[in-house]
Amino acid sequence: MNKSMSLLAVSIFLVGGLNSVNADPEADRLAMSDFYEKRFPAIELSAHKDGVYALDEAKREQWLEIEDFPPYEIAVDEGEALFSISFANGKSYGSCFENKGIGVKQNFPYFDIEKAEVITLELAINQCRETNGESALGYGSEEMGSLSAYMAFTSRGNTFAIQVPEDGMQAYEKGKQFFYERRGQLDFACSSCHLGLSGNMLRGEVLSASIGHATHWPTYRFKWEAISSLHKRFAGCNGQVGAEGLPQQSESYRNLEYFLTYMSNGMELNGPASRK
Ligand code: HEC
Repeated sequence: MNKSMSLLAVSIFLVGGLNSVNADPEADRLAMSDFYEKRFPAIELSAHKDGVYALDEAKREQWLEIEDFPPYEIAVDEGEALFSISFANGKSYGSCFENKGIGVKQNFPYFDIEKAEVITLELAINQCRETNGESALGYGSEEMGSLSAYMAFTSRGNTFAIQVPEDGMQAYEKGKQFFYERRGQLDFACSSCHLGLSGNMLRGEVLSASIGHATHWPTYRFKWEAISSLHKRFAGCNGQVGAEGLPQQSESYRNLEYFLTYMSNGMELNGPASRK
């Protein structure tokens, strides 16, 4: 074997190694927690569930006033009504979930070993519909926003304990890779802004920490004038750096959600939320 051949062999070994032997989600989570603890010594890790409002007192005050009359309240009520409606076959959403779908959002996303893919709550809602002979909802639809908002609401106060089984390691690693990969005209990764620049201002906005990014979805954004999903936010962040946003529930975004939610393990769910 010549020198370049053996180098190639070594790098293939390393890449392979990352996906199997060396992958350690818990070590990743602890390293990320440690990073934010050092960066924001005065802020409890658990406070990052409020995103930027954990970092900026003035913005927090304004936000708390908004939360007195939460803009997602109507969606939660609508979601509750939709959730209890019977499908044409007489069944309803409750039949597809543990505990009839109440207080279960902390179990999502999970890796489905049989289907060999990451299942998010939104995907599970549509799978439930299709299993029962109903057509799938659009991921950007008001109905999906309301249903997921209601399910998030019933899960408030529960904590994430996402598991990564051996078979799910590759999906986790892909999500992690997406997070650290540079893209777009700005050549920025998620980590460039939300780790490296967290706490700094960017175009008048304070950059939040990634830990806690998964706790509060779906979210009503004043910019959207609607409640929508974490994946819509991913697409917006991809767009900010001049990269193309991917469709909601694409495999890449589901893997990214899997990674990010694992990073939020141990944190409290507090969705739905409101953001600018
Ligand atoms: C150019 C900088 C930049 C990059 C790169 C970037 N974001 Fe953001 N992101 C922002 C800004 C600005 C906001 C709004 C302020 C905030 O909440 O941090 C935001 C908000 C978010 C939020 C909402 C936070 C909340 O509390 O609701 C999430 C989730 C998020 N980003 C995830 C990502 C992910 C995942 C990536 C990579 C695909 C990414 N971002 C890349 C700048 C960026």
